[in-house]
Amino acid sequence: MQHIQSYIEEHKDRFLNELIELLKIPSVSADSAYKDDVIKTAEAIKISLENAGCDTVEICETDGFPIVYGEKMIDENLPTVLVYGHYDVQPADPLELWDSPPYEPVIKKTDIHPDGAIFARGACDDKGQMYMHVKAMEFMTSTNQLPCNVKFMIEGEEEVGSVNLSTFVKNNQEKLKNDVILISDTGMIAQDVPSITTGLRGLSYVEVEVTGPNRDLHSGLYGGAVANPINILTKMIASLHDENNHITIPGFYDKVEELSEEERTEMAKAPFSLEDYKKALDIDAVYGEKGYTTNERNSIRPTLDVNGIWGGYIGEGAKTVIASQAFAKISMRLVPHQDWEDITNLFQTHFESIAPAGVKVKVSPHHGGQGYVTPIDSIGYKAASKAYNDTFGKTPIPQRSGGSIPIVSLFEQELKSKTILMGFGLNSDAIHSPNEHFGVWNYFKGIETIPLFYKYFTELSKS
Ligand code: BES
Ligand code: MN
Ligand code: MN
Repeated sequence: MQHIQSYIEEHKDRFLNELIELLKIPSVSADSAYKDDVIKTAEAIKISLENAGCDTVEICETDGFPIVYGEKMIDENLPTVLVYGHYDVQPADPLELWDSPPYEPVIKKTDIHPDGAIFARGACDDKGQMYMHVKAMEFMTSTNQLPCNVKFMIEGEEEVGSVNLSTFVKNNQEKLKNDVILISDTGMIAQDVPSITTGLRGLSYVEVEVTGPNRDLHSGLYGGAVANPINILTKMIASLHDENNHITIPGFYDKVEELSEEERTEMAKAPFSLEDYKKALDIDAVYGEKGYTTNERNSIRPTLDVNGIWGGYIGEGAKTVIASQAFAKISMRLVPHQDWEDITNLFQTHFESIAPAGVKVKVSPHHGGQGYVTPIDSIGYKAASKAYNDTFGKTPIPQRSGGSIPIVSLFEQELKSKTILMGFGLNSDAIHSPNEHFGVWNYFKGIETIPLFYKYFTELSKS
C-alpha cells in the first residue's frame, strides 16, 4: 500500500499547480464586483472534489454564494468526518503594498519558509488549507485507504459572516450528520511547535455614525460653537477603555470566563518570545489590558478595536471644515459565555448614552458569532494529537486562538458535534494583509497529517 509521503513526493508539482490555479480566481465575497469569480471558484471546488473521489458533489444555492457539498459514504456503521472550509477570500487591498499581484501566485523563499511559500490572497486563509483536505482525500480514495465516511462542506461567505451557511446547516441536519467536524482554517505556534486550536473568540461587529450640524461648516465661522462630530466620535471611542485598558461598557465583563491559575500556568508554558514578537511587528512595546500577558490578551480576553474611522476632509492640502458626520467600524472579540447579541445590545445602549447633546448617534450591528472552546479529552482531539505526533514527532500543544470562525459554535449547537481545528498556518503568514502566503512545507505537512487523523479517529471510535 502506498504511503502518503511517497504519494506527495510523486504528485507534489501537481498539488502545487492545482492550488495555484485556484488562487488565481479572485473570490472576494465582500465585493460584488467579484461575484462571477466567487461562483467560478465554487465550480472549480466541485470539480476538485469529484476528482478527489467524492461520490456525489453538488453546488447548493443559497441566498448568497453557493455551498459546495460532497460526500463519500462507504459504510453507515463507520464514523463520518465532516470537513468544513471556505473558498472565499478577503479583499486584497491596499494593492500597492503587495510585492507581487495578489491573484498571480508566486513561490518565494522566506526566512521562516526556506522551502518556499505561495504568495497570493487566500493562500493560507483558506484556499491552501482547505485544499490540503481535498488532496488528502484524493490520496485516501485512490490508494484505497479511506477508513470512514467523509462529507465536505465548503462555503463562500465565511469572510462576510456565514449568514447563509447558518440557514443551510439548520435546514440540513440529516444530510450533515457527522461524528466530528474537521477544519483547517487556523494556525499553529511555529514550524517546530505543532499546536491544535482549542478555542476561538466570538465577535460582535458594529458600525457607528455621529451626526452634528445638517451640513459641513466653515470651521472658523462655526468652530468652537457647535459639536464637531469627529471630535465627539474620537472622544466617545477613547472613553471605551480606561487607564488599565479595561473596556468600560457596563456589563461587558459579566459573563467572561476567568481562567484558573492552573489553566493560566499551563497556557504560559507554550513557547513564546516577547522580543521576537515585538521585532516581527516593529514595535518597541506591547500594549493591552493590565494584569494579562500578551498571549492571554490575544486569546482568553475580550477586546474592542476600531477597524476603520472616517469623516471630514482627507484630500490633498488643507480644508477648514467641520464635517456634518463621522463614522467608525468597531469590532469586539468575545470569549466563551459572552453572548454576541447581548454584547451588541450593551454596546448600543452604552454608546448612545454617552453621546453629548448636540449630536445624534446611530449604532448599526453588522454581524457576529459566539466563541468556542473544545476539550482535549475528546476522541477527535486525541486522534488529531496522535496524527501530529506521527508527522511532527512531537505532541501538539493545545492553544486558544484570538481569531473567530463564528459558524463553529453553530455547528455544535445544531449538529451536536465537536470541531477539531487542525490549522497549519503561521501568524506571520499575513492572512488578511498584503503579501499573504502559505508555506509549501506546511501545505504538504497538512496533506500528510490529515489521513492519519481519519485513521486514528476511526480506530478510537471503535474502541
Ligand atoms: N480563518 C480565519 C479565522 C482565524 C485565523 C482563526 C487564524 C484563528 C486563527 C477566518 O477566515 C476569519 O478571518 N474570521 C474572521 C471573522 C469573520 C466573521 C469575518 C475574523 O476572525 O476576523
Ligand atoms: Mn479563514
Ligand atoms: Mn479570514
